[in-house]
Amino acid sequence: MLVGEIPPMLGSLAYLQYLDIGGNNLTGNIPSSIGNLSSLSILFLSKNRLVGSIPDSLGKLSHINKLDLFGNKLSGVVPPLIFNLSLLTGLDLGVNDLEGNLPWDLGNTLPQLRFFSVACNRFMGHIPASISNSSNLQILQLSENNLQGQVPSLHKLTRLTRLSLYDNSLGYDQVGDLKFVSSLANATNLRFLQICHNNFKGVFPKTICNFSSLVHLSLSNNNIAGEIPVCIENVATLQLIHARNNVLSGVIPRGIGKLQNLNYLFLHGNQLSGVIPTSIGNLTKMSTLLLSKNRLEGQIPSSLGNCISLNGLDLSNNNLSKSIPPQLFNLPVLTIGLDLSGNHLTGSLPEEVGRLTNLDALDLSRNLLSGQIPSSLGGCMSLEFLHMGGNNFQGTIPDSLQALKGLLYLNLSYNNLSGRIPNFVQSFKLQGLDLSNNNLEGEVPDDGVFSNASSAYIRGNTMLCGGIPELKLRSCSLSNNAQRRKPENKKKILTFAILVILLLVVLVLLYTFKHRERTKKPTASDDLENFPNLSYQTLLKATNGFSSECLVGSGKFGVVYKGILDEDESTVAIKVFKLQNHGATKSFMAECGVLRSIRHRNLLKVVTACSSVDYQGRDFKALVYEYMANGSLQDWLHPEDSLIIRVEEVNNMSRHLNLFQRIDIAVDVAFALDYLHYHCGASIVHCDLKPSNILLDDEMVAHVGDFGLAKFLLKVINNDPNSNQSSSVGVRGTIGYAPPEYGVGNEVSTYGDVYSFGILLLEIFTGKRPTDGMFNGGISLHYFVKEALPKRVIEILDHVLVQDIESEEADNNLMLLTSILEIAVSCTTEVPRERLDMSDVAAKLSSIRNKFLGTRLQQRRRIHTGTQG
Ligand SMILES: *[C@@H]1O[C@H](CO)[C@@H](O)[C@H](O)[C@H]1NC(C)=O
Ligand SMILES: *[C@@H]1O[C@H](CO)[C@@H](O)[C@H](O)[C@H]1NC(C)=O
Ligand SMILES: *[C@@H]1O[C@H](CO)[C@@H](O)[C@H](O)[C@H]1NC(C)=O
Ligand SMILES: *[C@@H]1O[C@H](CO)[C@@H](O)[C@H](O)[C@H]1NC(C)=O
Ligand SMILES: *[C@@H]1O[C@H](CO)[C@@H](O)[C@H](O)[C@H]1NC(C)=O
Ligand SMILES: *[C@@H]1O[C@H](CO)[C@@H](O)[C@H](O)[C@H]1NC(C)=O
Repeated sequence: MLVGEIPPMLGSLAYLQYLDIGGNNLTGNIPSSIGNLSSLSILFLSKNRLVGSIPDSLGKLSHINKLDLFGNKLSGVVPPLIFNLSLLTGLDLGVNDLEGNLPWDLGNTLPQLRFFSVACNRFMGHIPASISNSSNLQILQLSENNLQGQVPSLHKLTRLTRLSLYDNSLGYDQVGDLKFVSSLANATNLRFLQICHNNFKGVFPKTICNFSSLVHLSLSNNNIAGEIPVCIENVATLQLIHARNNVLSGVIPRGIGKLQNLNYLFLHGNQLSGVIPTSIGNLTKMSTLLLSKNRLEGQIPSSLGNCISLNGLDLSNNNLSKSIPPQLFNLPVLTIGLDLSGNHLTGSLPEEVGRLTNLDALDLSRNLLSGQIPSSLGGCMSLEFLHMGGNNFQGTIPDSLQALKGLLYLNLSYNNLSGRIPNFVQSFKLQGLDLSNNNLEGEVPDDGVFSNASSAYIRGNTMLCGGIPELKLRSCSLSNNAQRRKPENKKKILTFAILVILLLVVLVLLYTFKHRERTKKPTASDDLENFPNLSYQTLLKATNGFSSECLVGSGKFGVVYKGILDEDESTVAIKVFKLQNHGATKSFMAECGVLRSIRHRNLLKVVTACSSVDYQGRDFKALVYEYMANGSLQDWLHPEDSLIIRVEEVNNMSRHLNLFQRIDIAVDVAFALDYLHYHCGASIVHCDLKPSNILLDDEMVAHVGDFGLAKFLLKVINNDPNSNQSSSVGVRGTIGYAPPEYGVGNEVSTYGDVYSFGILLLEIFTGKRPTDGMFNGGISLHYFVKEALPKRVIEILDHVLVQDIESEEADNNLMLLTSILEIAVSCTTEVPRERLDMSDVAAKLSSIRNKFLGTRLQQRRRIHTGTQG
């Protein structure tokens, strides 16, 4: 890591052609002497802390090809000469504090440009019409500035893969604002079209149906009208459609069910009408579906229960009617929220609701639901927010709700509930409680949420009494409860007797326990007690207050931050869990201790943990891992997934993993699994092996992360160190990587991990993910590779590997690769017991690697000299 200022004398190295000092901690100004590096073709100063303005002298770098100043704190106006450097193919000024206009002739002066980004600055004025003349552009990112006016025709940009214009003031709020989208009709490789948060008016552009590679379409927060075109069903590559907060009308096309790759569909805040098409159940990869604030009607389709990846569903504020289909409650990973409020739903709340054990928020308010509150609702143990107000629920508040210990907000107002307010409500850490306008009776508790008159609403229940004085209820006088007194007295006597007995038992136990303790020797569990617990404050400091700058990833179980620990300045990765269960502390620390005791060169090391409460008084739990400088395998295999692509990643071969690196990674992961399965005491099943869980250190050694996390979390959630329960579907891996038998309810097993490993192996060498759009109709990744073996291997290889193969040793290399793929294929057979086991796999792969080693040295030399530039 370089620190301090860039020395001005650097400018005297006139022969320098390539200067990459990006990603350091450099401060101060860019010395103007850099302009003297007249041979320079590549200059990367990105991701430092450089300040001040860009020196005019950079405009003298007449041989410069790629200039990357991304991610600094540069300010002021960009020297106009920079835009005259006609050999530039990549120019990244993104994420700085730059201002001014883009020059009107930009596209004429920079004809070679393939990558251009000024995203996240303070540029103003219009997008120059000449931009279309820069017809090699592949990536154009102007998002998050103050640009305005009409977007010019982009018809010559036929190679565009990414157009990001979001968060500007573009468009005049006039019909015709979207003409530029039609002008892109020949840009058939467009993958990302991001124009949300502008002033665009017009109708939903049909042209998007011509973008046969489109992955992200985001149009939200404009003034776009018209219908969603039926032809959208042909854009099978779509993964994300954001079109919320516009004025779209008409129906949701039935063909939406053909978009098998869709993960996110955000259409809330429009004027869509008609029914929700049944075909939506075909979208098994969809994770978030938001259709609220429209005019949708009819029944909620029960086929939604087939959207097995849904983790958030919002259908609120529509005109939906009839009963809630119970299938909705079978959604295995519905965790974030289910909002059906503000409709005309009738009937009772199905018993099945209790299956949503990991759900955070449930809102059924403002409907016409009736009947009892099902006692199974107590099964939704993760609930923080529960709103059932404004219905016609009857009967008492069920006792089973005392399981909802994580509730922060509870609203049952405007129903027809009767009976007493259960005592357990005062033991919840509620921040808001609304039981108003029911028929509740009896004494109001006075502890917990009831101790503050402004956080507990209970008015409109004429038969309540007692509580804190501020509630101004009548006191529960004896006469009032005359009928109840006798049974209550009896109860009191009974309770007293039980208490006395319990006390005796406890005393006896304490005595025996103490006695034993004196003779007991320290054991392993004492070690676990000593497992260091880092404080919340320490982690808060390490991550700059959990700032978004430090956020490096997020997943099913929580979010990951990069942090620097004060004590020894070591960089760590901090995984913050989302767990609602209180009192899980002890088992959490014990489990962390167990995780820490599992050590292997290819497993991500758990450094320590934190179990504490945050400043809001909520439970806070985090695991601290060693930091992996080279990110995840996912980032390397699919760099196009990251939201901001960097110049150096576009045409830079060195960013790809070569054949040998891939083999090394495969062997590393195989050894890690072999260790988990057979050599660390109890056999540990990973459960969720996939590229994003494989991390690469600064020497590109692979470390498997999140091992055993699924089971670990279950134990913590259940607060039961002996729990071996693995039935929760939510933790059974990720679609595409989880073996088929998990889908039909089989126990997790080491065979399942072997399957996931096989898929991973196939992905590493073909570059295709198991969920790729091409795999449907019975053709899986497994089948795709199996069919090509042994003759057509070269056709299915990741194309960037082909050049690594072609050498004098090509035949030999191909043969070895074929044997790797054969192993992968036999790891991914349907029948679990027919799969190899990890120790065999590891042994075979490592012997193949040794055979490669023979030819490796000479090839390595070739790769290093062949592809740079
Ligand atoms: C684009 O290039 C053509 C040919 O060089 C030129 O005539 C035209 O004026 C340019 N367009 C803009 C808007 O600068
Ligand atoms: C697309 O290409 C065709 C054929 O080259 C051309 O006729 C048409 O005008 C182009 N469309 C746009 C919008 O540029
Ligand atoms: C766009 O798609 C429509 C049909 O969906 C087709 O008729 C038209 O030719 C396409 N345009 C281009 C430029 O490919
Ligand atoms: C939904 O999937 C079924 C079978 O998987 C298929 O027959 C049907 O055409 C699909 N529906 C739509 C609208 O894509
Ligand atoms: C409220 O519930 C009671 C029974 O608990 C029932 O008699 C009454 O009709 C209900 N009121 C309404 C408006 O449904
Ligand atoms: C009572 O609750 C209100 C809002 O919920 C809060 O502002 C206030 O500080 C609380 N008062 C006490 C004494 O906790």
